Amino acid sequence: MYKIPSFKSHYSASDVEAVMKVIDRAMFWADGPEIDEFERNMAGYTGISHALAFNSGTSALLAGLLAIDVKGREVICPSFTFIASANTIELAGGTPVFVDCEATTFGLDVAAVAQAITPNTKAVMTIDYGGCVSRDILALRALCDAHGLLLIEDAAQSFGARLDGVHAGAHSDFAIFSFCQNKVITALGEGGGLVTRHQSIYEKAKYLRSHGRVDQPGKKHFETSQDNEYLFPGYNFRMPSVNAAFASSQLANIASNLALRQTVAGYYRARLDSLPMVRQPAAPERFSHCFQMYTVVLPSHACREQLKEHLLAAGVLVRGYFEPLHLKPYFRAKNKDLVLPVAEALGQTVLTLPMYPTLSEESVNYICDLIVAFASQSGHLEMVQK
Ligand SMILES: Cc1ncc(COP(=O)(O)O)c(C=O)c1O
Repeated sequence: MYKIPSFKSHYSASDVEAVMKVIDRAMFWADGPEIDEFERNMAGYTGISHALAFNSGTSALLAGLLAIDVKGREVICPSFTFIASANTIELAGGTPVFVDCEATTFGLDVAAVAQAITPNTKAVMTIDYGGCVSRDILALRALCDAHGLLLIEDAAQSFGARLDGVHAGAHSDFAIFSFCQNKVITALGEGGGLVTRHQSIYEKAKYLRSHGRVDQPGKKHFETSQDNEYLFPGYNFRMPSVNAAFASSQLANIASNLALRQTVAGYYRARLDSLPMVRQPAAPERFSHCFQMYTVVLPSHACREQLKEHLLAAGVLVRGYFEPLHLKPYFRAKNKDLVLPVAEALGQTVLTLPMYPTLSEESVNYICDLIVAFASQSGHLEMVQK
């Protein structure tokens, strides 16, 4: 057990009440009205017309990729991301084509994407890393439109992030969010969401979520006496009712959650700004960061490794999110000579510090004291040089 964990789930009494209400009715723990309600709330909050709840961000991403049908086609995607981004492309029968990211928000670099387009490209998937919409999202939209490609946003980490006041996912053909325990809001442990402007993607993903089943109008499967029609093979990727109730309650309180995250980010900034070589997360102008994570970039791999050990030894759980996917055995075997300089450099130098709404100023000071002490030791002058 660490003295300071990397995340802590945040909840209120109203979240618990919402769950108890579902449990107490002893009916419809699956497929209850809370699912539709959470979907309406997700669509309302994001401003994106169609929303679906899933049991994870991974299942939402897989359903979306199957819905647009990437079988036998290339999907340009980041390497500096979580494994699910590329795994789901493979599982949907497509080929992930890894391209480099930009060094500002760590989303896909539009110039690198432009070079990777081939006649077999179907879609481009960017990542909204750690709580910020991809820097190049508008340019990626324009590029995809010019080439007749679909744009996907893996916004698993960025529920609550905005560009010009517009929510993450709004510029894409579909986007997904994760409501896992370490995300901005959670559906009580695991959960996911898919948002899209396209009725066709929405419908296909909805069937895929639940066995390809066509519900009778106005009736849920568990309320009927007859079997339903099944259009094509699908999964059980449904979010349970208690999780949807919990997620809606979390969403109702998201403003205070986001404000607390901004406060914690402010504590970090105030302390680490005196160490200019610790590059802190900063949203570009017009972007608002929701600080799902607080990832800093250090001057070298050796420095990152030593600081990581120093913090772990003092009871602070830190991680390097992410190691590039094209260097992982399965994808390395298929991309033997691929070099992605920005992703590889980030993979060696990022360090994700603890971030959660109830992280106290005292705890941030404890972490920052350790970083400052480390930086002032001989041999780490690179961290304090201007
Ligand atoms: C970028 C990214 N994509 C996809 C996922 C998958 O989401 P889930 O864990 O809800 O399946 C995650 C989870 O952390 C993620 O960080």
